[in-house]
Amino acid sequence: MQNPNKTLSVSVMSGKGGVGKTNISLSLGYALHKTGNSLLLLDCDLGLANLDVLLGISPDRNLQDMLRPEIKSSDVVVSIETGGFDFLPAASGVPELVEMDEDMQDLLFRKMVQLIGNYNFLILDLGAGINKTVLSFAAMTQMRVVVVTPEPTSLTDSYALMKVLKQQHGVDDFLVLVNQASPQEAKQTFERLSAACQKFLGITIRSLGSIRADRNVVEAVRRQTPLMKYAPNTEASKDISAIAAKLERFRKDNLELIAATPPLKNFPDLGG
Ligand SMILES: Nc1ncnc2c1ncn2[C@@H]1O[C@H](COP(=O)(O)OP(=O)(O)OP(=O)(O)O)[C@@H](O)[C@H]1O
Ligand SMILES: [Mg+2]
Repeated sequence: MQNPNKTLSVSVMSGKGGVGKTNISLSLGYALHKTGNSLLLLDCDLGLANLDVLLGISPDRNLQDMLRPEIKSSDVVVSIETGGFDFLPAASGVPELVEMDEDMQDLLFRKMVQLIGNYNFLILDLGAGINKTVLSFAAMTQMRVVVVTPEPTSLTDSYALMKVLKQQHGVDDFLVLVNQASPQEAKQTFERLSAACQKFLGITIRSLGSIRADRNVVEAVRRQTPLMKYAPNTEASKDISAIAAKLERFRKDNLELIAATPPLKNFPDLGG
């Protein structure tokens, strides 16, 4: 019999680009690791991968190499920190998931399945927008974090993303995270989005909190050093830690539910 699943999978997505998904994914990873969680960070921005840039590393292999039969998933995974903080790099040039033929998809998923059950958390950093690869990944995870900023264009784009996910994949549970906002701005932003989702989509979104605009985020990017290492006690880092604590609590409170669901749902039928 299979062991019960213990991995909580979370996709980090947004309608509009450049709102902070990749920085948030990485910082959440550090915050969760700091409190003793094992996790795998997956760069799922297959067209424009850049988690490696934020980490200041140039991995030898990436997701594309997993499509080669002789390469094992453990050959591709990079250890970011000891104690189970791992990273699966993508690379510019990896074909989009939906452009892969079925054999390639099967091979990729088969190798990913061997990997993902080993962690407490799986964090997927998705590309922006509503392309099919984004939608497929988002529909596979147990939780979805929609990153928005107070900009009106971010609100309309995130609304569109949730609408398409509901229409095409029947997904209607979303956690909203407001980035680059004061608590007051974040509250207003969440309330506006929540009202529109309720009224026009019949969706009740939940708030995961907010992260303040913080120049240390920009500086950490410039230095290619993870924010949580560069400035662990700055405002944005504190906000991220609070959000990580919520995710950790959610996982602990829902272990039974998590045990009953695979870490990534609706994989193509992988047979035996
Ligand atoms: N809390 C913050 N405070 C200040 N600046 C921020 C904050 N979060 C993100 N940024 C800025 O936004 C930029 C874009 O962030 P990031 O690359 O994480 O966005 P993204 O959503 O992953 O973009 P893409 O859609 O291209 O994948 C960062 O380089 C940084 O300059
Ligand atoms: Mg990104």
